[in-house]
Amino acid sequence: MLTIAIAKGRMQEEALALLTRAGLRANETALASRRLAIADESGACQFLFVKPADVPVYVEHGAADCGIVGRDVVLESEADLLLPLDLGISRCRIVVAAPGAELFANGFGMLRVATKYPRISRAHFGARGIPVEIIGLTGSVELAPALGLADCLVDLVETGRTLKDNGLSIVEVIAESTGRLVVNRASYQLKAERMSELIRSLSEVVG
Ligand code: PRP
Repeated sequence: MLTIAIAKGRMQEEALALLTRAGLRANETALASRRLAIADESGACQFLFVKPADVPVYVEHGAADCGIVGRDVVLESEADLLLPLDLGISRCRIVVAAPGAELFANGFGMLRVATKYPRISRAHFGARGIPVEIIGLTGSVELAPALGLADCLVDLVETGRTLKDNGLSIVEVIAESTGRLVVNRASYQLKAERMSELIRSLSEVVG
């Protein structure tokens, strides 16, 4: 049996739809329950529903053979994973956004960056030689500039509505992000046949 960790939240529905088209359908009754581990109807695999940031952890440690998670989470994670397939779902961008079209540091020469992505942010501003103070938050980061908590933010943008409704503009695009299939290195070798079957059937239904 293959164990597949699926990022809960914005990607879950699209990930399950893709898996269904690839022939792996989760039982509807089990899905409607609060169970976090569900077998597919054929019994060929088990789905785990976990927080996006935990998908790389489950897969790297082999608690799941593979997972479906955004590239944003993969870039932020330091996990050693194989990335055999771009699933093309949940397309969005990781951006720097601020109240104006330019960045202004109003601290002591340090740009204060509110974000759920401290590693991506440090790497981005570090490459530009801009000193930053990272204000780590776990959500609703668009509030931070208006409250004087940060000068700008690094976050995901899909429709752009959250930025617009909070008076923020995109200053720079750091990276594009889509859902990825991530695979545990050992499972890739030890369960080679089932894994290549999964990769093949998913790649056939990816648009
Ligand atoms: C994400 C992201 C933005 C928003 C962007 O948050 O962090 O806040 O979606 O989407 P939009 O461009 O379509 O408006 P999410 O809904 O995942 O919740 P969170 O703030 O709790 O992380």
